[in-house]
Amino acid sequence: MSVQNFTEAEKLNMKGFLDMEIDPSLDLFKEIEKLKKEKNAIVLAHYYQEPDIQDIADYVGDSLGLAQKAANTNADIIVFAGVHFMAETAKILNPEKKVLLPDLKAGCSLSDSCPPPLFKGFKEKHPDHIVISYINCSAGIKALSDIICTSSNAQAIVESLPKDQKIIFAPDKNLGGYINKQTGRNMVLWNGACMVHEIFSLEKITKLKVRHPEAKLVAHPECEEPLLAIADFVGSTTQILKYTESDTCQSFIVATETGILHKMQQASPHKTFIAAPPDNSCACNDCPHMKLNTLEKVYMCMKYELPEVTMPEDLRLAARKPIQRMLDLSKQLGIGG
Ligand code: 13P
Ligand code: SF4
Repeated sequence: MSVQNFTEAEKLNMKGFLDMEIDPSLDLFKEIEKLKKEKNAIVLAHYYQEPDIQDIADYVGDSLGLAQKAANTNADIIVFAGVHFMAETAKILNPEKKVLLPDLKAGCSLSDSCPPPLFKGFKEKHPDHIVISYINCSAGIKALSDIICTSSNAQAIVESLPKDQKIIFAPDKNLGGYINKQTGRNMVLWNGACMVHEIFSLEKITKLKVRHPEAKLVAHPECEEPLLAIADFVGSTTQILKYTESDTCQSFIVATETGILHKMQQASPHKTFIAAPPDNSCACNDCPHMKLNTLEKVYMCMKYELPEVTMPEDLRLAARKPIQRMLDLSKQLGIGG
């Protein structure tokens, strides 16, 4: 997210501990466990976090699972090892709790691709449409939306609406296009995308498939349509993880952020996981925003209780409604992340 979007409190937060040094003899794993108990804190981590952070987390999951966990925790402090929109969602659901994000600069290219003032104008051009927004958006976009969805429940949420209901889907055109195809709908799509999922190289993946004919290709629906068209399985991070656990195939080419390979390898130690290569000189595809968080920053943010995610109360209340609608619908439909 761009710096001008930070609140004053967040800007102050950011100065906090960034230039302080950590005693190199400290065992950060032990220290973080101590701080969790002392402060009644919970660490929630997305699958795209580095392995050490996943290992110290109390819960590792996809965006839906993380939102559901945040909605139900008794902790006083939520440490969100993920990106800003995820921590913001946790704060929207928990105004009385302290929500910490180890690095406030951990934004999201997809969320940034949909600025609220532009989206407001877009929405006004489609007055008879309701707005379903993917959770990867700012509180400002959530406040302009009717229902939030994640990649785990997007299809079910769209299908829960009458066939003739006109819908705007924002901000991810790839996920929206995929859901249009799956459901036969014609949702109007905002033209946003994720920088990580859009740079996979179809050519390199095709060559990988030739070298590993036994491997199945699994992909996240934020990827572009030509890649999704050749995938053996398309799903959210949790759904892909579960698929690789239960499928009898022994090797997989994985087209999503590489952090997920840690959990895949832990869940299926004898299977082979190959990171799908991007269209640049790298062998795998990291999200530069997710990877801003480090174990050191998790420790420092727990110790100093900074940086904290905050927002104006009127914005929080407006953004809460469509998130609550998603949580209620997911419960009703029996969908967990
Ligand atoms: P899920 O967590 O819904 O799989 O989405 C992945 C993602 O890009 C999160 O930023
Ligand atoms: Fe955003 Fe893409 Fe990174 Fe997820 S992987 S946080 S959608 S930039």
